[in-house]
Amino acid sequence: MKEINDSKKIIVAIDGFSSSGKSTMARELAARVGYIYVDSGAMYRAVTLYAMRHGMISPDREVATGKLVAALPSIKISFAPAGADGVQHTLLNGEDVESLIRDMKVSENVSPVSVIPEVRERLVALQQEFGTHKGIVMDGRDIGTTVFPDAELKVFVCASPEERARRRLKELNEKGGNVSYEEVYANVVERDRIDTSREVSPLRKAEDAVELDNGTMTREEQMEWLLDRFNRATANL
Ligand code: DC
Repeated sequence: MKEINDSKKIIVAIDGFSSSGKSTMARELAARVGYIYVDSGAMYRAVTLYAMRHGMISPDREVATGKLVAALPSIKISFAPAGADGVQHTLLNGEDVESLIRDMKVSENVSPVSVIPEVRERLVALQQEFGTHKGIVMDGRDIGTTVFPDAELKVFVCASPEERARRRLKELNEKGGNVSYEEVYANVVERDRIDTSREVSPLRKAEDAVELDNGTMTREEQMEWLLDRFNRATANL
């Protein structure tokens, strides 16, 4: 019975640069089509928060790699279903860290943590487990290339760094943050550089991914575009 249901569902991989709006799109698509949504970036952020709390990251962003790799088996990441706020919450060893992992300090430290091969290996395995029964929308950097190279629908989202910094600043301000546009812009550019140049699973568009430049599209237009792609990908199941 299960297999029949699974065969009617697909995996949707949404990759792109930081703050390209891919998480919002992915979450909305999952809600519209009744799929599970997984924010893979939240998993890298949760590991980063753990490392920061345990003194494994120096002020100049040197990571105590050996210590962090040794601690990996004791870092449990899970998600609590969306509550009244409609947002799925990330749990680190059972603790709700959803708002803590969005902090600028975590954003600044997440890139050096996400280049560590053992961290990637562990998180990729966990991400693949989430997709065992398909019916999943996952967003990140390497979902269409490494995590689910056979995903039936792959989307690569892009927008200019200026546009993305503006969006991120708005998001942070709405949460009561006190950062400047310049700080956010510098963080976006730096993360782009690290995400695209790292050795393991660098951010790049999968050959069979469809590109979405959402810089000039409204949220509704993006959703319409995505639903159309989704319907095409599921039409022949
Ligand atoms: O999507 P985000 O900005 O919340 O992701 C946080 C960081 O995690 C990002 O700087 C790069 C890293 N990341 C990654 O390396 N691979 C993924 N699949 C998702 C995120």
